[in-house]
Amino acid sequence: MKNSHSYLAAILLRAEWGLSVILHLKGSPSSPGTLMRLTGTKYACGRGGCGACTVMVSKRDPTSQEIRHFSVTTCLVPICSLYGAAVTTVEGVGSMKTRLHPVQERIAKSHGTQCGFCTPGMVMSMYTLLRNHPQPSEEQLLEALGGNLCRCTGYRPILASGKTFCLVSRGLRGHPQSKNDGDRRSSLGTQESQLFVKEEFQPLDPTQELIFPPELLRMTENPEKRTLTFHGERVTWISPGTFKDLLELKAKHPEAPLILGNTSLGPAMRSKGCLHPILLSPARISELNVVSKTNDGLTIGAGCSLAQVKDILAERVSELPEEKTQTYRALLKHLKSLASQQIRNMASLGGHIISRHSYSDLNPILAVGNATLNLTSEEGTRRIPLSEHFLAGLASADLKPEEILESVYIPHSQKWEFVSAFRQAQCQQNALPDVNAGMRVLFKEGTDIIEDLSITYGGVGAATVSAHKSCQQLLGRQWDELMLDEACRRLLDEVSLPGWAPGGRVEFKRTLVVSFFFKFYLQVLQELKKLIKPFPVPVSALAFMGSWQHKLPPSSLLFVDSHQPLQDPVGRPVMHLSGLKHATGEAEFCDDIPMVDKELCMALVTSTRAYAKIISIDLSEALEIPGVVDVITAKDIPGTNGTEDDKLLAVDEVLCVGQIIFAVVAETDVQAKRAIEKIKITYEELEPIIFTIKVSRVPGLSYKVVESEVPCKLLNVRLIQGEVHVGGQEHFYMETQRVLVIPKTEDKELDIYVSTQDPAHVQKTVSSTLNIPINRITCHVKRVGGGFGGKIGRPAVFGAIAAVGALKTGHPIRLVLDREDDMLITGGRHPLFGKYKVGFMNNGRIKALDIECFINGGCTLDDSELSLWKFLILKLENAYKIRNLRFRGRACLTNLPSNTAFRGFGFPQGTLVTESCITAVAAKCGLPPEKVREKNMYRTVDKTIYKQAFNPESLIRCWNECLDASSFHNRRKQVEEFNKKNYWKKRGIAVIPMKFSVGFAATSYHQAAALVHIYTDGSVLVTHGGNELGQGIHTKMLQVASRELKIPMSHLHICETSTAMVPNTIATAASVGADINGKAVQNACQILLKRLEPIIKKNPEGTWEEWVTAFEQRISLSATGYFRGYKAFMDWEKGEGDPFPYYVYGAACSEVEIDCLTGAHKKIRTDIVMDACCSLNPAIDIGQIEGAFIQGMGLYTTEELKYSPEGVLYSRGPDEYKIPTISDVPEEFNVSLLPSSQTPLTIYSSKGLGESGMFLGSSVFFAITDAVAAARKERDIAEDFTVKSPATPEWVRMACADRFTEMVYICPLPLEPPSHPTPWAIFK
Ligand SMILES: Cc1cc2nc3c(=O)[nH]c(=O)nc-3n(C[C@H](O)[C@H](O)[C@H](O)COP(=O)(O)OP(=O)(O)OC[C@H]3O[C@@H](n4cnc5c(N)ncnc54)[C@H](O)[C@@H]3O)c2cc1C
Ligand code: FES
Ligand code: FES
Repeated sequence: MKNSHSYLAAILLRAEWGLSVILHLKGSPSSPGTLMRLTGTKYACGRGGCGACTVMVSKRDPTSQEIRHFSVTTCLVPICSLYGAAVTTVEGVGSMKTRLHPVQERIAKSHGTQCGFCTPGMVMSMYTLLRNHPQPSEEQLLEALGGNLCRCTGYRPILASGKTFCLVSRGLRGHPQSKNDGDRRSSLGTQESQLFVKEEFQPLDPTQELIFPPELLRMTENPEKRTLTFHGERVTWISPGTFKDLLELKAKHPEAPLILGNTSLGPAMRSKGCLHPILLSPARISELNVVSKTNDGLTIGAGCSLAQVKDILAERVSELPEEKTQTYRALLKHLKSLASQQIRNMASLGGHIISRHSYSDLNPILAVGNATLNLTSEEGTRRIPLSEHFLAGLASADLKPEEILESVYIPHSQKWEFVSAFRQAQCQQNALPDVNAGMRVLFKEGTDIIEDLSITYGGVGAATVSAHKSCQQLLGRQWDELMLDEACRRLLDEVSLPGWAPGGRVEFKRTLVVSFFFKFYLQVLQELKKLIKPFPVPVSALAFMGSWQHKLPPSSLLFVDSHQPLQDPVGRPVMHLSGLKHATGEAEFCDDIPMVDKELCMALVTSTRAYAKIISIDLSEALEIPGVVDVITAKDIPGTNGTEDDKLLAVDEVLCVGQIIFAVVAETDVQAKRAIEKIKITYEELEPIIFTIKVSRVPGLSYKVVESEVPCKLLNVRLIQGEVHVGGQEHFYMETQRVLVIPKTEDKELDIYVSTQDPAHVQKTVSSTLNIPINRITCHVKRVGGGFGGKIGRPAVFGAIAAVGALKTGHPIRLVLDREDDMLITGGRHPLFGKYKVGFMNNGRIKALDIECFINGGCTLDDSELSLWKFLILKLENAYKIRNLRFRGRACLTNLPSNTAFRGFGFPQGTLVTESCITAVAAKCGLPPEKVREKNMYRTVDKTIYKQAFNPESLIRCWNECLDASSFHNRRKQVEEFNKKNYWKKRGIAVIPMKFSVGFAATSYHQAAALVHIYTDGSVLVTHGGNELGQGIHTKMLQVASRELKIPMSHLHICETSTAMVPNTIATAASVGADINGKAVQNACQILLKRLEPIIKKNPEGTWEEWVTAFEQRISLSATGYFRGYKAFMDWEKGEGDPFPYYVYGAACSEVEIDCLTGAHKKIRTDIVMDACCSLNPAIDIGQIEGAFIQGMGLYTTEELKYSPEGVLYSRGPDEYKIPTISDVPEEFNVSLLPSSQTPLTIYSSKGLGESGMFLGSSVFFAITDAVAAARKERDIAEDFTVKSPATPEWVRMACADRFTEMVYICPLPLEPPSHPTPWAIFK
C-alpha cells in the first residue's frame, strides 16, 4: 500500500473491517476506500488458509527499536490493528509502469504463474522473506511459501524463481543431483534447453526498497499513551496505551476479548457469527512482549507472536545444553509445522493458549512441560499451572473474567528427563493436526525407572486431554516392553473417543494415541542407551523413524529445442503473456473491475436440507435490513428456469444441501449476507435421502463397450475380483465463481463479465432465462483464475441468476461467491465405485477383464450422463490390450450437489480401477506390477477396444525412457533393501503408463473460430474462441500468429475473449483449446497473408508496416479464421468408433516413504516422461504437466470431501480440504518431453497437455500402496486389500495393521452411545 498511510486514519473508523475489505473497496462514492482500489491483493478463502491475500506489515519494535517486517494474511487482519504500522501490498513492491521488483520479474520469467491469482500472495511472501534475509536459505524459502496455495503450477517453477535468491542454490535444471548410485538421466535430450536465463535477471538491491515511513518512526519515538477508541457500526475497538489502562478496561469490560492475532477470534466471528461489541487491543502494551531468561526457565510475554516465540526458543536451544532444552525443542518442532508463516507472524502465544483449541499444537507440550501462566488484573498478579484442568476450562483453574495472561513461564528440563512432541495431519505443512501429543518422562537418576510421566493429547476430544491416571499407574515401572504394553492399554482406556466424536476417524485417532506413545517409547530407549551402559535395546528400536525434513526439490526439465529461425517463437519457452502483470497485481480479474454506476451485490440463499419440500419462506426480517433492495425468486424468471431436472432456482422442492433457492440483492455484499441470516425457510423432509453410490437411485440408462465377452472359465485362467473406491475432488480454483452483469439502457442489452471456460454457454443460458435473443447479450472473459472444468457449466447458472436480478432491479449486479458457498454449491469430480473381475495367466497376462463402474452424479445427471461416464468407459483400458473386455458404467443420482466436469473427465477415476486390477494380478502372480503392466501393454500398431486404430510407439518410448531416466530397476532393488532393514517405515516405488485420449468425442465440439485484425500502424489484434484460464492459450495463439504473419510477438495483442468478437464458441476444455483455436488463428493469418501477397511481392524488401498500407489499396485487413474440427464419432450400439482425434502418451515413476505408525508419507522422487510431440511452448506445457500431476497427487492422496450424515459438506475451505502445498512437491522432480514424434492432425504437430498429467499423479498413489503392501507382507497380512483413494494417512495407517491397530479393535470404546451412533461424517 505504497504511500497509503494517510488513508488509514479515515479507514480506521470502520472498526470491524478487515484489511482485505479495505484494499478491495472498488469505489463507492461514500466510502473512504474509494481512493484505495488495491485489487492486486487477492481474496480466495477468508480464513487465513490460502495466502492469496498476503501483504507485508512493518512495525518498529518499541523495545529493540528494530523494524520488523512480517507477512500477514489480510483477510484476518483487523484494520484497527494496523495503527502505527506500514503495510506494503504487491502494488508497492513494483509495477509495470514504474519498476519491476526482482521478485516479480523472476517469478514471471521462471514461469511461476499460470492463472496468476495466487501470484501476488506468492510475491509478497517472497518479498517479505527477502526484506529480512536478502540471501535466504532454501529452508527459509520453503517456510516462507508454505502458507501460499497455488492450484495451477505444481509449485516447482515458483520455487525455482525463489531459489535464484538463495545462498546456495542447487541447480534448477541440467543434471539432477541424484542420491542413487548408478542413477542415470535420460538419453533423449540431444540438446537441452533452458526455460529461463538466470543471468538476465536484474540483481536484488536491498538499498532500493521502500523505507519505513518517517511519520511512523516519529510515532514510535514518542509513543501515544492515550487510549484510542475506534467506533464501528457494530464493534468498538479500544486500544489502551498503558498496561494499567488495559487492566482497568478489562475490569470494566470483562466480557470483551483481547484481540491479538485475530486468528482464533476472526474465523469464529466469521463462521460462527460470534459478534463481540467491544474488542480490547493490547497491541501497544510492551509489558506483554517481555522475555526473560532465568537459570531455571524462560518467561515469554503473552503478546509475542508465535514466530517470535520460535526465534526465542531457537536462541535458547543454541545457548543451553540439550538436557535443559527438551521442552523447547519439542515446542520448536511443532512451531515449524503449525499453520503457515503468515499465521505464525500474526498469532500470539497468549491467544494460542487461551483459545484452548482441542487441536492446539503447543498446549499439550506446555502442559507436560509444567508451564505456568502469569496472570494479572487490577487486583494483582497470580500464577496458575497450564494444567489439564485449565485446558478443560474448569472455572477453578481458569482466568477470572477481569484477568489477562501476561506471560508464560516454561521451565528448563533436567537430566534424565525427556520431552517429545507428535502430530499427524492430512499433510505435512499448513494443516491442522488430526491428533497431536506432548509426552514427558523423568527417570530416577541412573536408572530406567519412571519417576514422573505426563502425556497429553490434542484432537481427541473437545479440549486437550491429559492421560493423568495412566501416567500415575506407570510410576515406578521400568521403561520396557511390558510397560509399553500396559501403557497402551491404559491409554486407550483413558483417552475416550466415542464413535460419533466430532472430526470422525475414530479408529485412526485411537491408533495414533498408542502409536505416538510407541514412538516416544522408542525415542526414549535410544536416549537411555546413551546414558546407561550397557543398556539392551530391542531390535525394533533400531527401526525407529525420526521426523522428515522437507527439502527443496532439485529438478530437471528436458525438452528438445526446435530448430527454427530465431525470430520464430513457436516451440520456445515464451513467458506467459500476463506473467509480469500477475506478479505486479495489475492483471485484472473479473472482480477487480471497478464498481460501476448504481451497482448492487447479490448473495445466494441455499437449501439446508438434502431432500425436502419447501413449506414456507419468511423474508420479512431480511427485507428490513438496511441496504437490502430485493429478493430474486424463480417467479422473477421471465424465461425458462433451467431444465425440469436441473432448475436454476428451486421451486417447491430441494434435492440437496446447497441447492440455490433464491438470491438477495443489496447495496453491499455484507448487507446481502446479513439479510440471508434473517431469512426463515421451513421444510418438510422427504424420503428416501441418498448420499452414497451403493444405495443410490440408479437411472435406467447404462452404457457398455464390449469387444468379446468370453467367460473366464472358458479361458481356463485364474480369476480374482476386487473393488476400488475413488473419492470426489473439489476444483478449488483460486478465483471462486464470479460474475458482473451490466444492463444497458437500450434494447435489453446486457454486458456480462464472467469467470468462465464457456462464455457462449453463459450467453445462451442468460438468453433463455431472460427470454431475450442471444444477440443482445455479450459475455466478456479477460482471464479466469483457474477453472479445471469447474467453470464450464456452473458460471451459466450464476450468470443467469445475476441477470434476472439485473433485469428486475435495473441495476448492474455483482455476484461473487465466497469459498464456503463455492464449495457447497458447485459440486466437483465424480466419486467412483468400481468392481472388477479379472482372469489371468500365471505369467501376468490378462485374458479377460470385466469392470463395472458407478459414479456419484449428485442430484442431477447433467454432465454425468451426457459425457463423463461415456468418456470414462472409452478411456478405461488405458495402455493395455486386453481382448476379452467388458466395461459397463452407471451414473447414480444422490442428494448431493450435482457433480460436474473436472480435468481428465473420468479418466483419473476410472483408470485407477484398471491399474488397481493390474496391481492385484501382479500380487497374485508374485510378480512386480511393472512386469504385468509391460506384459499387457499395446506394443504395435493396433486398434483400441472400440476399434480406433493407433500406433503405440510413443507410449512404449515414454515407458522405456521413464524406466531408464528413473533408473527404475536399480531403485526397485534399493527400495527392497531399505524395506528389509526397516520395520516401521517402508518405501514403495511405482511406474505407471498412460494413453490419454484428447478431445470431446464429437466433431461439432472441435470447431473453433478466430478473428484477426491488422491495424494501419501494423499492430495486430487477435481474438479467438478460447479462454485464458492460466493454461497460456493466449500466449500460444500469439506464437502461432507470429509464426504465420512472420512478425514479432510484440506487434500482436489479445485483449479478451468476447462472444461479440467470436460467436458460438465451444468450452475451453478437453485439452484441445490451443489445438483447435490455433488452427483457427492460423487460418485467419493465412487468409490475411494471402491478401497481402501481391503487395509483398511488389516490395519484397519492405517492412510489415509498409505492407499493411494495403488498406489504402482497398484490401481488407480483417479476417475470420475457422477450423471445422477433428472428426470424432462413436456408435454406442456397436461399441465402435473413432471418438478421439489423438492420444497423449506418458509415463511416471514415483517413489515414496511411509511412516507405518502414523500413515504419513513423503515423496522422494518423481520422473515424468511425456510425449508432447512438437510443443508449441515447452515452458507452458511442462507447467501444465507439473500442475496437473500435483493436482492428481492431491486427488489420490490428500483431497477428501466429508459430509455430515445430513448431507452438509464439512470441507468448505482450505482448513478442512487439503490441496497440495509447496511441501508436497516430490523432493526430486524431473520432467522430460519426448523428442518430436508427429501428429499431422494438429497445429504444428503439437499436442494438448492440459489434462493428461493428472492421472500420472496416481504413480504416487501406487507407490504408497506398494509400500503398504511391503508392510503387510512383512506383517503376514493379506496383500490384497481394498484400494481406496485418496490414500490418506488414515487409510495408510489402518492398512499397515499391527499390534497397535489390533489393540484398538480389542480395547472396547469406553463410551459407547446408547443406541446406534450416527457417524460424524460420510464420504461420497
Ligand atoms: C489458517 C490457520 C491455521 C492454523 N493452524 C494451526 C495449527 O496447525 N496448529 C495449531 O495449534 N493452531 C493452529 N491455528 C490456530 C492458531 O494457533 C490460533 O488461532 C492462534 O494461536 C490464536 O492466537 P491469536 O493471537 O490470533 O488469538 P486471538 O484470535 O487474537 O484471540 C484468541 C482468544 O485469546 C484471548 N486472549 C488473547 N491474548 C490474551 C491474553 N493475553 N490474556 C487473556 N486472553 C487473551 C482472546 O480474548 C481471545 O478470546 C491456526 C489458525 C489459522 C487461522
Ligand atoms: S484469502 Fe486470506 S488467506 Fe485466503
Ligand atoms: S497460478 Fe497459482 S493458482 Fe493459478
